[in-house]
Amino acid sequence: MSSEGFPRATAYLQCMETNCQATYDAGERIYTCEQCGGLLDVQYEWQRARLFDVLETFDARRASFHPHDTSGVWRFRELLPFVTSPAQIVTLGEGNTPVWDAPRSAGYAGLKRLAVKHQGINPTGSFKDNGMTTGMAQARRLGARAVACASTGNTSASLAAYAARAGVHGIVFIPGGRIAYGKLAQSLDYGAVTLQIEGNFDDAMRLVRELARTTPLYLLNSVNPFRLEGQKTIAFELLQQRRWRVPDWVVVPGGNLGNVSALGKGFKELHNLGLIARLPRLAVVQAEGAAPLAQWYAAGQTGNLAPVARPKTLATAIQIGNPVSWLKAVRALEWTNGVCAVVSEQEIADAKAMLGRDGIGCEPASAATVAGLRRLVSERVVDPDADVVAILTGNALKDPDFTVQYHTGQLYTDAERETHLTHAEGKLVPTFANTPRQVPADATVLRQVILDLLETPPA
Ligand code: F0G
Repeated sequence: MSSEGFPRATAYLQCMETNCQATYDAGERIYTCEQCGGLLDVQYEWQRARLFDVLETFDARRASFHPHDTSGVWRFRELLPFVTSPAQIVTLGEGNTPVWDAPRSAGYAGLKRLAVKHQGINPTGSFKDNGMTTGMAQARRLGARAVACASTGNTSASLAAYAARAGVHGIVFIPGGRIAYGKLAQSLDYGAVTLQIEGNFDDAMRLVRELARTTPLYLLNSVNPFRLEGQKTIAFELLQQRRWRVPDWVVVPGGNLGNVSALGKGFKELHNLGLIARLPRLAVVQAEGAAPLAQWYAAGQTGNLAPVARPKTLATAIQIGNPVSWLKAVRALEWTNGVCAVVSEQEIADAKAMLGRDGIGCEPASAATVAGLRRLVSERVVDPDADVVAILTGNALKDPDFTVQYHTGQLYTDAERETHLTHAEGKLVPTFANTPRQVPADATVLRQVILDLLETPPA
């Protein structure tokens, strides 16, 4: 296949509800089932014979310089055969994120070894880019002139960048005052119309869904199944980097629960197509103050998920009380014999500092993975010998305030700041603090500081 060739298979939309399963043309501009309101999947009529050597094709593309091959999403295009023309692709070279060993974090979690796949090394610093490139391809296919999302900050940053590249209006709905500064900076810089809603993420989500019905806005939240198509390639790239060896566990933070759903779909498709022999187990980790899925499991997995009315966590990326994709997440955990874990604010903060000691920065939500693993190992759910990969979802530079506040002993679960702290409660312990030191501009004093330092082993 030529590097520019775009494979076609019959793509269609299908309601995920087992008692509905209504199907729709992939060119229909809908987000949920018209008959029952259920979530939709992008499905394909695979031509299996054509896919038998597709893993070799993916590997061969690593030697190409064509943008459709160097993208860590479109490299896998045989498994994304919904685009109808290569001209629909808007790529920033997304994906291509590293897998690193994290030995200190492994020890901290009680594991012999731990690998992290750092999705924060994406063009806009989060895993959202994997899904935004496919969502934007579908937006172009439909001829959308304006795209929109609700966001805790990363989806909005990603949408803003891809909208700018595509030359369409980007409109982002963010909870006023509650997203990390780095993320706000991105959506402003990339030229998106930035609407700070007086409310939380769930309010913003409700509003943008309504507006996508009543205006020409094309919705690029993960309720849009074309977003999840891109995010499923995180599973493909991870396996490609491991020479298609399936790990025992893959761990992700959970907010709106799109990512765990996408990973589940990715692994399941590879398995159904006979391209991998088994599935990894998925673990999704929620923050204590925003854990509706974990609460649903704890309450016996019956009925509908009860939303958390006032979700609260310093990991603002996952401060979500009413996750749109919860049923897909449950399905992914069923497919993979997965689990859902909960962690405290203190555990997230300490796990983040521990990843830092491995030379790996990430945003707080991402560190929930390592905190969750520590719990799961201590509860004997995850074996210390297991082959585990944590997906770090966002870049450390998204939220430097959190990091500096932790290391200076200024991190509070409940704080208000103007130029200085005006109200503070719930102080977290800076267990692994690395506090900056005030020193005089004096070489003699500094010489002694350095000599003293060299008497002790590195941190
Ligand atoms: N980690 C980070 C850094 C995120 O930004 C998000 C979600 C998640 C984890 C959770 O992923 O929602 O698929 O379960 N951020 C969304 C946003 C909600 O608007 O940027 P999820």
